[in-house]
Amino acid sequence: MFKINEDYLKLQGSYLFSMIGKKVAAYQKENPDKSIIRLGIGDVTQPLAPVIIEALHRAVDEMGSADTFHGYAPDLGYEFLRNAIADNDYKARGCDISADEVFVSDGAKCDSGNIQEIFAKDNKIAVCDPVYPVYIDTNVMAGRTGTFNKETETWSDVIYMPCTGENDFKPELPKKQPDLIYLCFPNNPTGGTITKDELQEWVDYANKVGAVIIYDAAYEAYITESNVPHTIYECDGARTCAIELRSFSKNAGFTGLRLGAAIVPKDLKSGDVSLHSLWARRHGTKYNGAPYIVQKAGEAVYSEAGKAQLKEQVAYYMNNATTIYNGLKDAGFEVSGGINAPYIWLKTPGNLSSWEFFDLLLSKAGVVGTPGSGFGPSGEGYFRLTAFGTHENTVKAIAKIRENI
Ligand code: MLT
Repeated sequence: MFKINEDYLKLQGSYLFSMIGKKVAAYQKENPDKSIIRLGIGDVTQPLAPVIIEALHRAVDEMGSADTFHGYAPDLGYEFLRNAIADNDYKARGCDISADEVFVSDGAKCDSGNIQEIFAKDNKIAVCDPVYPVYIDTNVMAGRTGTFNKETETWSDVIYMPCTGENDFKPELPKKQPDLIYLCFPNNPTGGTITKDELQEWVDYANKVGAVIIYDAAYEAYITESNVPHTIYECDGARTCAIELRSFSKNAGFTGLRLGAAIVPKDLKSGDVSLHSLWARRHGTKYNGAPYIVQKAGEAVYSEAGKAQLKEQVAYYMNNATTIYNGLKDAGFEVSGGINAPYIWLKTPGNLSSWEFFDLLLSKAGVVGTPGSGFGPSGEGYFRLTAFGTHENTVKAIAKIRENI
């Protein structure tokens, strides 16, 4: 008789965004005449930039001709894309990352979930609280998190690093020693970030205690302040302690196309074993690569026209972020984020719980957001709104919140 992976039974509820989707669907069924504006999941709304569409069309045509057709992609991604990533995201910033340290993937969500597979089960993970739920849930599935305490809503074997208004949403170095540290800056969900000097402290700490930092840089394109690092490899010593995850979803609108990359430096080792070789083995065995046409679209992101068009797209979303931030602040809400990130993090008014505020916002203003408590216990009493809506809807949503809440 087969047995299941019982660690899956430990998972709490359903995936946060699936749960919100179900709640909204139920509300719509009961209130078919009410319109709603979705500022919940961080999914983009602007069409792909023209330069990307052109690259896709060209690549599709290539697939239709025997002499330019492409079958399986190389295990670790096409050279043209790995070079473009290494040159533009790293070398251009003075960071020592080479193309053969870039592993092309179908997105940062998958990489952030899969990367834990190359680490031993008894590694201790440290996460910010609140946190992108994929980091925790995938470690639950792997049996690494211990038991769940329903009262504190925490896992016994996870080290939580609270990020609240009291510490300006910046994690402090953990008191217990972790083996794997998940950091995401600019942060999802709080929209906060840390300076290069602060990130350097994390790198020094990880090197000192022999931990690996899994650094999720998915929101890097939204950085506006000069002292905020665009990659962890701006810090000295990061090559021996950090894996970085990159996404094309937020900077180039690829949420539906799927493309990302993991950077695993060859200097990152456990004894004689390089994590690069483990990840290469895993990638080669379990993955057949992002499609050729999508990798060609990814290459177009780094063309001069691509850079110019995507700068405009990011500015469009950041204009939404400013609209939300200023609109709510003027209305008396306590807000943060939105300066180096497309997320605005607000304190729920009147001591409402995050889910109470979710219900209130949906029923009174017709606006969907994400309850802070869905990201972890320190998110309770907070709420996230995304700047990825259309500008028209963003303006409408803020007006409705101001009128009705
Ligand atoms: C979010 O809303 O937190 C993100 O869109 C989720 C993701 O990128 O997978």
